[in-house]
Order: sequence, then structure tokens, then C-alpha cells
Amino acid sequence: MCGIVGYVGRQPAAPILIEGLTRLEYRGYDSAGIAVLGSSGATVVRRVGRVRELEAALPKRLAGTVGIGHTRWATHGPATEANAHPHSSEDGRISVVHNGIIDNAGALRARLGAEGVTFSSDTDTEVLAHLVARSGAGALEDRVIDALEQVVGTYAVAVLDAEQPDRVVVARNGSPLIIGVGDREMFVASDVSALVRHTSSVVHLDDGELAVVTAKDYRTFTRDSHDTGRVPTEIEVSADDVEIGAHGHFMAKEIAEQPETVARMLRGRLDTRFGTARLDGLNLSPRELRAFRRVKILGCGSAYYVGELGALMIEELVRIPAHAEAASEFRYRNPIIEPDTLYVAVSQSGETADTAFAVREIKRKGGQVVGLVNVVGSTIARECDGGIYLHAGPEIAVASTKALTHMGVGFALLALLLGRVRDLSVADGQRIIAGLERMPADIAAVLADEERIAGLATELSAAESLFFIGRVRGYPVAREGAQKFKEISYRHAEAYQTSELKHGPLALIEESRPTVAVIPDDELTDRNLAAAEQVLARGGRVVAISHPGVDLGPLDDRRVDVPRNEVELDPILLMIPMQLLAYHAAVALGLDIDKPRNLAKSVTVE
Ligand code: F6R
Repeated sequence: MCGIVGYVGRQPAAPILIEGLTRLEYRGYDSAGIAVLGSSGATVVRRVGRVRELEAALPKRLAGTVGIGHTRWATHGPATEANAHPHSSEDGRISVVHNGIIDNAGALRARLGAEGVTFSSDTDTEVLAHLVARSGAGALEDRVIDALEQVVGTYAVAVLDAEQPDRVVVARNGSPLIIGVGDREMFVASDVSALVRHTSSVVHLDDGELAVVTAKDYRTFTRDSHDTGRVPTEIEVSADDVEIGAHGHFMAKEIAEQPETVARMLRGRLDTRFGTARLDGLNLSPRELRAFRRVKILGCGSAYYVGELGALMIEELVRIPAHAEAASEFRYRNPIIEPDTLYVAVSQSGETADTAFAVREIKRKGGQVVGLVNVVGSTIARECDGGIYLHAGPEIAVASTKALTHMGVGFALLALLLGRVRDLSVADGQRIIAGLERMPADIAAVLADEERIAGLATELSAAESLFFIGRVRGYPVAREGAQKFKEISYRHAEAYQTSELKHGPLALIEESRPTVAVIPDDELTDRNLAAAEQVLARGGRVVAISHPGVDLGPLDDRRVDVPRNEVELDPILLMIPMQLLAYHAAVALGLDIDKPRNLAKSVTVE
């Protein structure tokens, strides 16, 4: 969703801000703007539309070396230039960019209005600019503290004062904010991808923290002015990770790099001798792991669907009940938290508000929660008691692909460890390890069949509406397949349990409404085949996602084969052709694949 960048240093700020905003485009936005401090105060330029339109609108001479920038996703007020950030005080002295929502903006606007302030936008953020400007305090950081004392809500903010042009003041409460430490220059961003070209040394602010950032230094402190002395940490992300390279789209790049990223994720985590996984980051002893009698998985959207797949894996390998639920529902239903349940929060971004709230609710009630998170240092990663980093590298395309595969692998590792402290034998543990070790090559084998899958995808793209069906292990795969397809092709795609088809949806089967059926080589193959043949018999068309050697009979001409791995791990691989089907359908339709309409990469609002 919204993105923040900031710069204080020796170089002209504008190109650095524009480049940073370009890196944040993938998060989804509808307008953008920057403010740069120069000898005659702040120059603020804002535009509705893309960052390149903002860049084209910048004055030729914009030499200031201190500035802030923002990409906005409209919440309060429509996407107009007046509502785009930065917002300024009436005299233009203060400029503010903000991610998040100020809950008491209405009351603050009314109060400021009564005091004679004229508003120039519909946003909640503008309130902050006026509050900072009207604070009686001297230093900008004290003014920002004063303003934030009056505010209820979530925020990451960056503030400039034309009369203190050596600094940017930033604050965080519920929305991520990072400082990048350079050589006599500092960067500010809501997301590391905006910084990685400049530095790998970063400081993550915590909720309730502020920082004053100058070219030479930064200081972190709390709202009651206690220094927190945060030191920088090194991030693993490189500039290449956020470049599109030779690929047409980030989604294509992220699909293609999975063999390599999965191999990287597994490095050092497999203990072949004892048939188990090494997951020190969980911070749980074997005795503690053994004491859990249930596992509850929480995530949103695709992360929730992979959570369903993870729950099945855990039930199969650990033989304890495991269940996944949408975090967005869980948090609203006063959930029962049990001491002998291991809660697992799963999230690519680590910033999804609904999942973060679920984590807090579990912790508030004394539950034990670990994270399966991709972004290092993100909110969910830091708030969980321990976790497994997914190490998929930055995922830029809005539609998640490689991070989901990594989540599947993460659940396999967790299931292996939990299984081996219970009744999973060494031999079975070693069997799963061998399967995981084959996974990168198996993914590469699916990707090698891309051209044929693209042909089937083009055919499917012509349909207005589709079914994705699967049962038991195949059902989460079908759910994720439908999700990916609808997200980027804008076609209606509905997932159904294959077993439930005959209880209603068969009525909808016709030639123009094709079905993608997950038919793995397992104990349910015959039943899955029988159901798919019922679809054919009613004039439907079926694309089968299957394993080599399965006799698909009349479905044979539209099959996609995935290498057979271990039966518990097969669903991870069965998701790969789903990614390619969705991607190539969207290519065939000529759509904006990396930035589908109405969607944002990380959903940081409720
Ligand atoms: C689908 C997709 C979303 C996310 C969901 C959770 O392609 O990207 O459904 O999976 O918004 O996001 P994270 O994993 O960041 O918590």
C-alpha cells in the first residue's frame, strides 16, 4: 500500500527520492509526491498516476539535498493531486508523508478548523502537518512528539521543517519504517526495497519510536524522549534482487527463480543423519515442541491457503490435529487460545494488519506463536516468539508465487521437526528430507514445461468463468490456483472440493466454463478421475494437473505433469503449474500483471 522514502545527505535528493518511489511502485498506489528542502523553503510536487508522471513534472533545478516522498493508496478522500502526499502546513514550513490511518482525524480537523486552520485536502494526514506547525516546541523532533501525543491511530511518518533543513524526523506506530545508514548520508523508507541500491545497513524502528535523521547521524528515542540507541543490522537483500533483469515481469522472474531460492532456503536446515530439521529460530526445545497437542495456522489470502496445505502436512507427519484459519476472521471472533496449541502466523510481507492483530491477540491471551515470514525484521517476524524465515528474497509482483512455495517448504520443515520429536521414524524423516532435496530440480522440471502450460493458459483465458477443483491435499492447491488466476486475469475462478461438485456446482458445467482439476497420483486418483469425467460428460472442458504415469483416459490431451515427489510434499509442487497458468492467462489478456487493479502488495489496513 502507501510507501515512504526520505533522504538527507550530500547528493541532490530528488533523483534518489524518485528512484526510491519507483522501487515502491509494486506495493500499489494511485498518486505520488515529493518535498525537497532548498534555500527558499520546501518545493512540493505531487501528481495523480505513476511516479514517472511525477518525475516529468519536477522543476529542472531542484538542488536540495534533504527530502521526503510518498506513494499514496487512497483511504481518506479520492485520488487527487490535493490529497496526494506530502501535505504541508498553511505557511509551507512543515511537510509530512504518512502511511496508516489517523482514527481521530475527524475530531482533530473539527478542532483545528474551529481554531481557524484552512484545510487543502480531505486527508487524515494533513491534520499532522498543522499539528506539527502549531506546536509550541522548538526542535522539530519535539514538535512531532507534541503532534503525535494528540493522535490516535497507526502511522509511519516522515516530517520536514524548512527552518531546520538539516534533518528528517520519522516516527512509527503500527506501520513499518526503516532508516538506511550510508556514508555521510541517510535514507528513510517504509520498505527495504527502496534502500537496497544505497546501503545494506538498516535500523528498524519499533512501534512508539521516533528518530531524528541527519546526514551524519541518527538518534532513536521514545515519545517520552528516552534514547533507545538502536544499532544498524545488515540486510541480505541485494540490488539485483529487486531488478527485473531479462524477464518481462517480476512475476515471471519470481516464478523462474524458485529452484534457486528453495535450494537456498533449505541450506543448513536439513539434518539427514537424524532425519529432522534444524530450526533454531523457533526458540523451542524438544520438550516444549513435544508438549504441543495441536497446531493452529493463521494467515490471509494465499498465505491462508498454503496454511491449509501446511495443516494437512502436519497432521500427516506429526499425527496431531492441525487447522488453518483466515487471520482476518480469527481476530474478530474472540478466539479461544489454548496453552498446548502451537500457533503459526504465516506471511510473506510480515506486515499484513489482520495477521499482525491475530498474533497480538494470541500473545495477549498467553499463547505461543511462531512466524513463517519472508521479510526479515518485519512487524510479524518481530512480534512472534520465534520463527522460520522463508528466505525467498524480495517478492515484488503483487501476486505471490515464490513466497508461497517457500511457505509450503517452511511447513514441511516444521512438520518434520514436530514429527521427529513425536512418532515420525528416522527413516520417514529421511524420506521427507530426500524429497525436499529433490524439490529444486522438480520445480525446474515443471518450469521446463512452461511453453505447453502457456498454450493451455491462453485457451483458459478466453473463459469468463472457471472452476478449480481438488480434494484433500489437492484442495488448497485448487484454492490457491483459483486465487492466482482471478487476481491477475480478472476472470471469475472458483475453487471447489472435487467431492462436493456433485452437490451443486455440476449444474454450472458447460463448454464455456472450463475446469482445472488437481489429480495427483495418490489414494484418491480414481475418485478424482471419476469426478473429472463427470465434468466431461456434461460438456465441460478439463485441464488436469497430474503426475506422470497416471492414466487420465479422455483427459489425456490437456494434462500438465508435475514430477512425483513424496506424497506429503506433492502439493507444494502442484502449485507451480497454477502459477504459470495464471501468469500466461494474464499475458494472453494483455493485463498489468505485476500490479493488478485494486490490489496492494501488503495489506497494512484492516
Ligand atoms: C495473493 C496474495 C495475497 C497475500 C495476502 C497475505 O497472491 O498475494 O492473497 O497472500 O494478502 O499477504 P502476506 O503473505 O504478506 O501476509
